[in-house]
Amino acid sequence: MKRTHYCGALRPEHVGAGVTLVGWVHRRRDHGGLVFVDLRDRTGLVQVVVGPDTEGGTAGAHDIRSEFVIEVHGRVGARPPGTENASLATGEVEVAVRRLLVLNPSETPPFPIDAPGEVGESLRLRYRYLDLRRPEILAHFVLRHRLTTAVRTFLNAHGFLDVETPVLTKSTPEGARDYLVPSRVNPGHFFALPQSPQLFKQLLMVAGFDRYYQIVRCFRDEDLRADRQPEFTQIDLEMSFIEREDILTLMEEMTASLFRELKGVELPRPFPRLSYAEAMARYGVDKPDTRFGMELRDVSAPVADTAFKVFRQALDGGGAVKGLNAAGQAGWSRKELDDATAEAKTLGAKGLAWLKVTASGVESPIAKFLGDAAVVALVRALDGKPGDLLLFVADERPIVDAVLGALRLALGKRLGLIDHTRFNMLWVLDFPLLEYDREAKRWGAMHHPFTAPMDEDVPLLDTEPGRARAKAYDLVLNGEEIGGGSIRIHQQEIQSRMFSLLGIGKEEAEAKFGFLLEALQYGAPPHGGIAFGLDRLVMLLVGAESIRDVIAFPKTQKAVCPLTGAPTPVDAKQLQELSIRVVLPPKQNPEKTHG
Ligand code: AMO
Ligand code: AMP
Repeated sequence: MKRTHYCGALRPEHVGAGVTLVGWVHRRRDHGGLVFVDLRDRTGLVQVVVGPDTEGGTAGAHDIRSEFVIEVHGRVGARPPGTENASLATGEVEVAVRRLLVLNPSETPPFPIDAPGEVGESLRLRYRYLDLRRPEILAHFVLRHRLTTAVRTFLNAHGFLDVETPVLTKSTPEGARDYLVPSRVNPGHFFALPQSPQLFKQLLMVAGFDRYYQIVRCFRDEDLRADRQPEFTQIDLEMSFIEREDILTLMEEMTASLFRELKGVELPRPFPRLSYAEAMARYGVDKPDTRFGMELRDVSAPVADTAFKVFRQALDGGGAVKGLNAAGQAGWSRKELDDATAEAKTLGAKGLAWLKVTASGVESPIAKFLGDAAVVALVRALDGKPGDLLLFVADERPIVDAVLGALRLALGKRLGLIDHTRFNMLWVLDFPLLEYDREAKRWGAMHHPFTAPMDEDVPLLDTEPGRARAKAYDLVLNGEEIGGGSIRIHQQEIQSRMFSLLGIGKEEAEAKFGFLLEALQYGAPPHGGIAFGLDRLVMLLVGAESIRDVIAFPKTQKAVCPLTGAPTPVDAKQLQELSIRVVLPPKQNPEKTHG
């Protein structure tokens, strides 16, 4: 067998050539005396014709079925006029088969490769190797490959060194649970799989490597969603002797070059920027989708004097009232309003107040409680025009923002306000350094504990740590966080102070991060970096719904692999070697619990 051409490569210029092709039977149309086969390989499809020219006639071709692997020898010919297929790159030619060989037959696939239709994802993942045969899925991986190639080319050209960091390591706090790996030779001791290479890349800066990058797998045991996997890939980088501005500029240059090369899209630069505070105020989220308006407005001031108890309670309790204008939606039925209210409640609100602006005034169950002055002020604040529906939530500010932020997104999608041809890049800057964990009653790092506070906010660490801002930045694309990073703490005293702010005592800091604190005392340069979520970036570039569509062998929402069945229980002997005894939680079905 000696392939002469790929299936997708044949063109009119090949007419007359003798060729040998190999591939899979995509589709077969049996006309008795002539059998047409669409032969598929990684590059595409070509029509091959089994008929009078074929040794042994069509006998052999009647038995071949979809997904058989075959080899054909034949001659390229122009298709008879009127039978060209304009939707196929090879549609002007066909191959008259001289000899056909079945290299390997195939069972009937559990779902058709040529007409996917509505195939359930669990079946697709169970037979992922068949799913990956679908040209439209393959295209995701071709783009992914081109993207990583372009990233490497860019970073190599800018003096970055590609360095590998350990996978068997110690916990790196990025806000998720660790995947642990037991050590056989050190009974009772565990490695953690890295949630990111954060500490190692910082140590490489201490080592003087100056510019590092790695396209690297990260592991996080967290609740999964469409944009999260337990193992995923980062484009991770770190630089020494730089300021925030240097990173933002270089990353804009890199992102723009990727979009130019892969999508033919010229991203306007500089990318827009929003402070965290402004993003929350206007969109209720720290990763706003700026492809449409419908911004939130704080209406606490216009209703400051209202007697309406729902608003009163929120304001008196230090909360806020915010609203948005669903323009042109005054026609909503009672049911639609009830559904929106129910949605707001599942998101944590106590209710949803509404006000329809009509030609003759307003229509609202709460107008009489609000009073005329407040109603007029609200309509003005939200720029309400006849036909508009104004929606309000009153509560503690984080709840108001979360509910209205989610409602805005849902409405944007439902009302078709999102322009899907756009790629809106946005930097979100000046994040708070800390966030308060009410359950644990202590401060946690908003990005990670190695992020530097803004210089002017350092004094706040002793007085009002909650107000201190961080030198942290996120890159948001169409409402998805595709990257995040920060300037790091490079001074040991500040890092120690940060740990104590986070409630990490001296001993714990020493046990967990002693190696970092030590390294910071040996001439650590000022440094900072960023990591992009590669899977998310590819997902957005190809317009996929989920990052599972751009990962070759992904896990389900329940963090299992339907193809291999991992994770699975292990032999008692293996556990014994690892000095591990499995204690299953009570009342759980042991079949479903993996040791
Ligand atoms: P962060 O935790 O923000 O930062 O992660 C960086 C980017 O990685 C992507 N990402 C994920 N993608 C898929 N599945 C997941 N479970 C998942 N979690 C994160 C996101 C995110 O923006 N060490 C720091 C970076 C730094 O400070 O330089 C870090 O890991 O797109
Ligand atoms: P109630 O007095 O609880 O019957 O609420 C009166 C109206 O205000 C209803 O339409 C509720 O949905 C709405 N509402 C209740 N709580 C809130 C809230 N926290 N924010 C906005 N609207 C609310």
